[in-house]
Parts: sequence; C-alpha cells; structure tokens
Amino acid sequence: MEKLIAPSILASDFTRLGNEIEMLNQSDADYIHCDVMDGVFVPNISFGIPVIDQINKIANKPLDVHLMIVDPDRYIKAFKKAGADILTVHYEACTHLHRTVQSIKDEGMRASVCLNPHTPIHLLEDIIQELDMVLLMSVNPGFGGQKFIEHTYHKVSQLRQLIEKRNTNTLIEVDGGVNYETGKKLFEAGANVLVAGSFVFGSENPTETIRNLKNL
Ligand code: DX5
Ligand code: ZN
Repeated sequence: MEKLIAPSILASDFTRLGNEIEMLNQSDADYIHCDVMDGVFVPNISFGIPVIDQINKIANKPLDVHLMIVDPDRYIKAFKKAGADILTVHYEACTHLHRTVQSIKDEGMRASVCLNPHTPIHLLEDIIQELDMVLLMSVNPGFGGQKFIEHTYHKVSQLRQLIEKRNTNTLIEVDGGVNYETGKKLFEAGANVLVAGSFVFGSENPTETIRNLKNL
C-alpha cells in the first residue's frame, strides 16, 4: 500500500509562507494539508479562503483542505474556487452529511469526512461508500503540537475492516501528534495518509523528515 504524507502548514513560518510552499513543492510530500479553523467549531482561528487562494497559485501538490468550521456547506464553492482538491468536513459539523458529501463531489473535489477522537467508526457505515477519504483525528482539533491519543490505532484497524468489507477505495488519513514512532504504527494499522505539522516544520531539515516519514 502506498504511503502518503501531508505536511500541515499550520506549523509553518507564516512570515515566509511562499518559501515553505516551495520547500514542499520540492519535497516528497504528497498533499499540502491546510487547517481552516473558525473559532466556533474549534477554540482557535487559523486562516481561510484568501490564504488558500494564494497558496494555490504556487503549490504544485494537491491541496488537502481540512475544514474545522460549522456549517461547511456555505463555503464549498468558495473552497473549490480557492483551489482545494480534497475537501474534508467534520462529521460533528454536518446535519445532512450525505448532501454535503454530494455537493463536494459535484464541485469536482474529492470528498472526505473527519471524525473527532470520541466519534465512533460505525457512524460511517452508511456513508463510507461515498467517501474518497476518511480523516481520523488523533488529537482534539484546534491546535498543533498536541499529544497523540493511543486509541487511534484501534480506530484505524476498525476503519480498515469496514473499508475492506464494503470494498471501497477510501483512503485513511490520520491527523495529530504524528512522528516517526506513531507514524510507523499508524501505517502498520492500515493508514494511507499521515498529516504532520510540528514534527515536520519543527525539525532541522523538514525535507528529510518528510522523506523519512514516507519511508517508515
Ligand atoms: C489540528 C490540525 C492538525 C495539526 C496537526 O487541529 O487539524 O492538522 O496541524 O499538528 P501536529 O502534527 O503538530 O500534531
Ligand atoms: Zn488538520
């Protein structure tokens, strides 16, 4: 199974964002993970549509946009226009999730649903066949640099079983507290895509860290 790495620019140096994107362009990164926070769904505010629009002008990798916002339906078209390739909405933020997923796909983006650490895998049983990706939070969303929640390995295995049973091509992405140790175990448990923020951008040589994560 191919191992994909999605560095999260939340941990990058925003005063030199252009250079950070250039670094990712030259690296083994597969996606560029963009964390959008609204200060309502999560207790933090990050960046939004205009910033993603600018990143899209120079990025040569797919933009993996993680919406930590309430009522994401209001902004699906805007994120498409800004350049999102994969759009992730939270299960906990969507009342009519099936419709939201359909709208994302109708716009030509890949559709992904994120589960908070407390949200069980079985709630995806009647939507998994529609999903290009599932994002499992391995920390409570809102901040980079938090401690990895160990129960996540179990959720990855459960989700892998569901995907096999239903015979879908859904990717499993994991977000929060990823480093060499947790990353290796996540790939072993059946994850396809690892998001890594502080571990990549806090390292001495981010390019090398990305390459090492990919070769775990
Ligand atoms: C957390 C974000 C993550 C975050 C991960 O709310 O969704 O993408 O940037 O950061 P690290 O890798 O530092 O845990
Ligand atoms: Zn994220």
